[in-house]
Amino acid sequence: MNVAILGTGYVGLTTGACLAYLGHQVYCVDADPKKIEALERGEMPFFEPHLADVVADAKENLRFTTEYAQAIPAAQVIFIAVGTPPGPGGAPDLRYLEAAARGIGEYLGPHFTVIVNKSTVPIGSGNWVDSLVRDAFQKRGGSRAGGSFAVASNPEFLREGSALGDTLYPDRVVVGADEEPTAEVLYTLYRPILEQTFTAPAYLPRPEAIEAAPLISTDLASAELIKYAANAFLSLKISYINEIGLLAEKVGADIAQVAKGMGLDARIGTRFLQAGIGWGGSCFGKDTAALVATAAEYGLHMPIVMAAREVNKKQRERVVDKLLGELKILKGRTIGLLGLAFKPNTDDLRDAPAVDIAKRLIERGARVKAHDPVAMDRFRQEHSNCEVLLCASAEEVAEGCDALVLVTEWPEYRELDWESLAKSMRSAFVLDGRLVLDRTRLSRAGFRVSGLAG
Ligand code: UDX
Repeated sequence: MNVAILGTGYVGLTTGACLAYLGHQVYCVDADPKKIEALERGEMPFFEPHLADVVADAKENLRFTTEYAQAIPAAQVIFIAVGTPPGPGGAPDLRYLEAAARGIGEYLGPHFTVIVNKSTVPIGSGNWVDSLVRDAFQKRGGSRAGGSFAVASNPEFLREGSALGDTLYPDRVVVGADEEPTAEVLYTLYRPILEQTFTAPAYLPRPEAIEAAPLISTDLASAELIKYAANAFLSLKISYINEIGLLAEKVGADIAQVAKGMGLDARIGTRFLQAGIGWGGSCFGKDTAALVATAAEYGLHMPIVMAAREVNKKQRERVVDKLLGELKILKGRTIGLLGLAFKPNTDDLRDAPAVDIAKRLIERGARVKAHDPVAMDRFRQEHSNCEVLLCASAEEVAEGCDALVLVTEWPEYRELDWESLAKSMRSAFVLDGRLVLDRTRLSRAGFRVSGLAG
């Protein structure tokens, strides 16, 4: 099928690359000419494992452009995957979505076209996009009834760092459409994924357990709500274990064991019960805020979701409190942060706890050093006013530090030569913000170790 993808962020580019890999003819559109030129040279705009490989494998079917006029007219399916950054008051800023919808209306082809909301959009956006496209279509002289198109919702559930695997081998595909023919187009598009009939790339083998991907076919509003409800639930699962962590510390319980014991109950599940600094990234904070804002428009409160947000915010403050408790004075101390990205395998710094923690420490007069295996360039570009001393290695961070904080659980941090790190520090204290370090080994190496929950 002919596909156009508007927006080459994590969602757009991953979706475009995977659909092209499956054999569809895909045009990826972005307003930024520099980004498009770089993509044409095979350079990825962000770090995502295997994205460049899939783009290279799919290059016969994948084109990049800044022009709607090139991509839209022939497209049978158009994905809107533009940014919906948080706006003031929690509701997302929809200006890019609006521009995309109008642009589609201006260039829509004569055949039936399905327009898919892939960006996380407020509930009810399907109808809004429909009216924007229709308006633009009529303005250019289209018939009163508008072009032959329909809007669908197809939320993505990809996690940064494993976005390609999550797209090719999803837990489920959700299609929201109010008319059957619209949904049919998307089944056809996704058939190779739904039936798992494509040849798996050697670098992303098909997990053995996967034979087919379940399809949830529903109405627009339900599909839109599924995305928010899922992300908010995962957020509150994390905040729940972090709240239990506070009590675990008081009563002398081991939060990792508590999480394991809870998680093995099949009704609960072990995933997203990793206690620590809490969530960051572009989705959980934004989506929980948007859910609360949408509910407020209907006169509803969402106390559970709001509490999850509050607990998450406090976890970052607790990092500073813990350091203060250990070092007594922060002014003039040197604190080393291991990891800047909001999670491993990405260079994304949106709502990254490390940035928040660094700022709080600097405000209190501490000197902050940091290392990240891939996010330091981005940190330099996006946080040039944040006075963090970036170091080429974890060893360089540790040199002369009063404390280390493991902020992002990059696997290589577990394997550091902790014995020599301890020797190079002014005081060998490590705050394991993700509960991943081997405490026995670290204690043997001469470290005092603490987590956020004791
Ligand atoms: C999330 C959703 O998982 C994905 O389905 C959605 O479409 C986009 O948002 P992402 O933000 O890429 O994906 O990362 P995810 O792996 O979900 O982690 C989010 C944050 O939660 C990270 O900061 C991570 O460190 C934190 N986290 C995760 C925990 O603190 N504990 C956990 O147990 C799991």
